[in-house]
Amino acid sequence: MNREDPDNPARPPAGTTLCALAELPERGAKGFRFRVDRFLFAGFVVRQGAEVRGYVDSCPHNGWPLAVMDDRYMTREGDRIICAAHGAVFTPLDGVCVGGPCGGDRLTAWPVAVLGGDVVTA
Ligand code: FES
Repeated sequence: MNREDPDNPARPPAGTTLCALAELPERGAKGFRFRVDRFLFAGFVVRQGAEVRGYVDSCPHNGWPLAVMDDRYMTREGDRIICAAHGAVFTPLDGVCVGGPCGGDRLTAWPVAVLGGDVVTA
């Protein structure tokens, strides 16, 4: 089972609170890891102003996690998601790779929503 498998038992159920929206910089991201027994689910959420999206933390190039350091998912400008491994860059609101070795592929969505000022799984 890989981290993208929707049946991964470590994947948190809908309605799980991840963080307060205010914890996310206006053009920032935050990673989350959930572990159940030997299963791991890793995802991250990205904020662009009022919009928030979530993705499974697995690069479509090689399946590696995107960030080497905690929460470092964005380019310096904060307008693209970047994979630290080989530099693939993705647009934050649709996860499409617009540069690097997996151009045209996209990140796997991890549906999230903003409810009452919190970011929750949807
Ligand atoms: S694993 Fe992400 S660019 Fe290669």
